[in-house]
Amino acid sequence: MKTERLYNVIAKLKENGVSQMLISDPASIFYLTGKTIDPGERFFALLIKVNGDNKIFINSLFTVPEDLGADKVWFCDDNDPCEIASEFIDGDKTLGVDKNLPARFLLRLMELGSASDYKNTSVCIDTVRACKDNEEIALMREASRVNDEAMGELITRIKAGMTERELASQLKDIYASSGAYEYSFDPLVGFGECAAVGHYEAGNTVLCEGDCILIDMGCIKDGYCSDMTRTFFYKNVSDQHKKVYETVLKAQKAAESMIKPGVRFCDIDKTARDIIKQAGYGDKFNHRLGHSIGIECHEYGDVSSVNENVVKEGMIFSIEPGIYIEGDVGVRIEDLVLVTNDGVEILNHFDKELKVIG
Ligand code: GLY
Ligand code: MN
Ligand code: MN
Repeated sequence: MKTERLYNVIAKLKENGVSQMLISDPASIFYLTGKTIDPGERFFALLIKVNGDNKIFINSLFTVPEDLGADKVWFCDDNDPCEIASEFIDGDKTLGVDKNLPARFLLRLMELGSASDYKNTSVCIDTVRACKDNEEIALMREASRVNDEAMGELITRIKAGMTERELASQLKDIYASSGAYEYSFDPLVGFGECAAVGHYEAGNTVLCEGDCILIDMGCIKDGYCSDMTRTFFYKNVSDQHKKVYETVLKAQKAAESMIKPGVRFCDIDKTARDIIKQAGYGDKFNHRLGHSIGIECHEYGDVSSVNENVVKEGMIFSIEPGIYIEGDVGVRIEDLVLVTNDGVEILNHFDKELKVIG
């Protein structure tokens, strides 16, 4: 068990008046134990208690290391895992659960009367995970370094007549050559007007002269995610597209440069949004400015107008303003940033000045 992380979660549980929590989110279990298991539809959970009597419930078909820092309770496919977990849950006390506990297990625990009450205590672990420790910061720097390098390699492969899919498909091998074997999300590659389509992935659009090329990509390296967007132009760029690009870049840099402990997430969002509004594109920036990231690509805590919390040292999140003009162009520029004790460290170093390639 990662002792300090567990200690911080237990402190949060105490603050919330809860003495036991069942953690089922595999990302949170990885955070606390260093062990990753994808349980599929099967039950896999860590029960933590303020008195230190922790248990981890594991199906016998999974292989786990000897030392997980919690007593292992084994079961097999023929058992009712909730009935087994209930033997260890204090029945006369509230049970904290996380937001990812599948309803089929929560309903069964309730049916069995496993605890006196059930409370969503996700915040107790999510807020701890939001501030990365030194080990995590090193891994996040490395994941972003790999992403920067991969972007550099990918753009050398852009060729006339290729499709978005053809370009995107090259990324798997590029990442693998750096020891990153998974995407943190499927790469988003949009040419020309496709770059303006929300949640667009990569299709069969062929690259043409004058198109923008939006590439939003990320890998998972040693359990931690990267996520970066750059937008390029192919062969030439119109004055209007240049204005769009420079507006997004100005918003992106202004937001990044104001980050330090104590600044509110909503004010960072407002800084970028106001610049885009003043340039006349307010309604073309239709998403939050960013999101927290770490073991998962999208973690608790977003950079948006409704998050009035302040940023703290160790937090890592994205700053990704965009302008999307239907039928014409889409520009987004995204970096990951780390809040330091007195400012900010930008984790991405891939150049973001306007670039015409080809
Ligand atoms: N592509 C995922 C994100 O930037 O949030
Ligand atoms: Mn992204
Ligand atoms: Mn992102």
